[in-house]
Amino acid sequence: MPAGFDGLHVVAFESRRAEEMGVLIARHGGRPLVAPTMREVPLREMPDALAFARRLLNGEVDVVILLTGVGTRTLAAAIDQEYPRERWVEALRRVTIVARGPKPVAALRELGLAPTVTAPEPNTWRELLAALDQKVPLQSQRVAVQEYGESNPDLLEGLRQRGAEVTAVPVYQWALPEDLKPLKSAIRTIVAGEIDAALFTSANQVRNLFQVAADMGLEHALRDAFRRMAVGSIGPTCSDALRTLRVSVEFEPDHVKMGDLVRGIARASKRLVAKKRVAADAGVDTTAWRRADMVWAGAERQASLTDSVFLRACRREPVPYTPIWLLRQAGRYQREYRELRAKVSFLDLCKTPDLAAEVTLMAVDRLDVDAAIIFSDILLLLEPMGIGLEFAKGEGPVIHHPVRTGAAVDQLAEVDPQALDFVYEAIRLTRRALSPSLPLIGFAGGPFTLASYAIEGGGSRHYAHTKTLMYRDPVAWHALMEKLARAVTGYLNGQIAAGAQAVQMFDSWVGCLSPDDYREFVLPHSGFIFSHLTPGVPAIHFGTDTATLLELMRDAGGDVIGLDWRVDLAEGWARVGYDAAVQGNLDPVILFAPPAEIRRRANGILDKAAGRPGHIFNLGHGILPETPEDNVLALVDAVHERSEELRVKSEEWKGDGRS
Ligand code: CP3
Repeated sequence: MPAGFDGLHVVAFESRRAEEMGVLIARHGGRPLVAPTMREVPLREMPDALAFARRLLNGEVDVVILLTGVGTRTLAAAIDQEYPRERWVEALRRVTIVARGPKPVAALRELGLAPTVTAPEPNTWRELLAALDQKVPLQSQRVAVQEYGESNPDLLEGLRQRGAEVTAVPVYQWALPEDLKPLKSAIRTIVAGEIDAALFTSANQVRNLFQVAADMGLEHALRDAFRRMAVGSIGPTCSDALRTLRVSVEFEPDHVKMGDLVRGIARASKRLVAKKRVAADAGVDTTAWRRADMVWAGAERQASLTDSVFLRACRREPVPYTPIWLLRQAGRYQREYRELRAKVSFLDLCKTPDLAAEVTLMAVDRLDVDAAIIFSDILLLLEPMGIGLEFAKGEGPVIHHPVRTGAAVDQLAEVDPQALDFVYEAIRLTRRALSPSLPLIGFAGGPFTLASYAIEGGGSRHYAHTKTLMYRDPVAWHALMEKLARAVTGYLNGQIAAGAQAVQMFDSWVGCLSPDDYREFVLPHSGFIFSHLTPGVPAIHFGTDTATLLELMRDAGGDVIGLDWRVDLAEGWARVGYDAAVQGNLDPVILFAPPAEIRRRANGILDKAAGRPGHIFNLGHGILPETPEDNVLALVDAVHERSEELRVKSEEWKGDGRS
C-alpha cells in the first residue's frame, strides 16, 4: 500500500518556490513538471495606475470605486512612485469614494480617508450598484473603477447604463512570466492527457493558467483534461478560483502550507485520480461534482465486497493487512465538516440524505480507511418515540420529555420503521457512490445507552435516574428495554436492507453497570437484538469501560466485540474468546501525541493482536473534536504499513485461527 504519488505525473504552477515544489513532488514519489505562471510586477510597470493619478490631479475624476483591499494598496504604492502622497490623497478627498466592502475601507483608513459610500453585505457588484442608486447620481459623472485580477463587465455595464463615463483602472501585483514557453508547453502536456495530478498554490496561478490557455485556444481542452486529473488546492481562495473556472478540487489541506498540500495529495492521488477517471468515463460531469455523484462502472463494479479486508476480519479470515476505521471518523475535527456545519444544523445534516452521504464519503476519501460508517446519530431513533430531541449548541443532546415512570414508558410510541427513511436513503446514496470494494457500516444505539438518554434527558455522569428506574420499577424498566430492543432490531435490519454490509450496536455507557446488573437488566434485551438480525451480516457489539463485562457482552451477541483502551487487547480478546473477532483499542487521546508516538502505540496494539485473524483496528472511543487530522492520517498509515509483516503472520495462524 504505497503512501505516495508512486510514479504519477504531477504538474504544479508555483513560481517563486518552483524548485522547492519540484523537489517536494519528487520526494513523494511523483514525476514533477513545474511551470511558473506568474511574475511579480514592478510598481513602475503600472501605466493604468499612473494615468488614473494624472486625471485625478487634473480634476478629471468625479467618482472612484475601490473593489479590493489589496488592489487599493497596490494602486497607492504605484502612485507613490510618481507623486507625493499628500497631493494625490488630497485630490482623492475631493471626489466621491465608493468602497465595495470592509477590505477597501481598511485600506482607505491607512491613507487617512473614509469612503462616501460603502456597499452593504454581501458586497457584490449588485449591492454596489444599489447603494449608488440611493446615494450617488451617476449621470455624466466620470467614474474610475479600481480592478484587481479580473474585470467585472456587469458592473462596468451597469455604471454606463446609469449615464456614467467609465474608466477601468486595472492594477496587478502578479503578471504572466515574460517567457511563456514553459507554461505553454505544460498546457500542451496536460491537454494531451499525460498528467495525473495538478497542484495549485494561489488563485492567481489558476487565472493566469486559464488566460494563457485561452490565448492558445485551449481553454476548453484544458478544462476537459482536468476532468480526468486529481486537483489539489492550497486553500479556500484558490479552490474558489478553480471552482469558478469549473475545475473540481479533490484535495485541500487543513493548513495553507505547501508541504501539507503535497503530502496530502500524494497520499490520496492514486485513489482520487482512478475514481475521477471512472466517473468521467461513466458520463459524470467531473468539472463540478460532489462525492455522492460518483458512479462506478465496468470492472470496478465487480469488486467483491465479501472479500474486503474489513469483512474478512469480521469473519476471522486471514487478511493481507489489518483493516482500520475510526469511531466518529467524520466530524468536527475536519475542516470540511466544520464548513458544512456552519451552514446546516447537525439534525438537518443527519436528515438530509445527500448531505449525510457526502459527509460519510468525505471521511473515507480523506482518511483512506477500510470501511465507511453511515453519518447519523444513535439518538435519532428516539425522536419518533416522542421524547423531544434537540442538539443544543455546545451542550450536546437535550431530551425535552425524559421518561422516568412506568406511565411515561407506556406512552412511548412504537417506532414506525418509515420514520427513519432518511437514514435508509442516505445508505442507498452512499452505497452507490462508495468504492465497490469498501463496506458500509450501519449502526444503532444499544438499548441501555438509548434508555439512559431517554431517562436522564441527556448525557449523565452517575446515571442516577436510569438506575433508579431499574431498581425501583423493574417492570417498567424491562418494558422500556423491550420497546427499545424492538425498535433497534427493526432499524438495524432496515439499514441492512438498504445496503449496509455490517452493523454496529453502540452500547457506549453499559460500563457503568455491575456484571450482575448487566446480566439481569441488559443482556436479555441486547441478546434479543443480536438474535433477530438479518443472518450473514457481521454485527459489532461496542461499549466503553466494559473490562468487567466482556464475557457477558459476548454472551449477548455480536461477531465482533469492541474493546476500549482500559483493557489490554490480548487479555480482552482471551476473555472474549477467540471464536469472536475484536475491534479496538487505541485511546483517542493518543492522537494528540506526535506521529512517532502514535506509530509506536499503534504497533503496540498490533503486537498484542499478534496477527491473529479477526482484529479490526479502531479507537476505543470516538475521535475528539480538537484532534489534528494529520495525526489521524498518520495512524491509518502506520496500521497499513505493517501489512507485509502481518501478512506473513496471518499465514501462520491459518488452520488454528479458531483455537
Ligand atoms: O462514527 C461516525 O463517524 C458516525 C457518526 C456518529 C455520530 N454519533 C455523529 C455525531 C456515530 C456512530 C455516533 C454515535 C453516538 N451518538 C453515540 C455512541 C458512540 C459514542 O460516541 O459513544 C452517542 C452516545 C451519541 C450521542 C451523541 N451525539 C452525543 C452525546 C453528542 C454530543 C457530543 C458531541 O460529540 O458533540 C452527539 C452529537 C454528534 N454525533 C456529533 C457527531 C459528528 C457532533 C455534532 C456536531 O456537529 O455538532
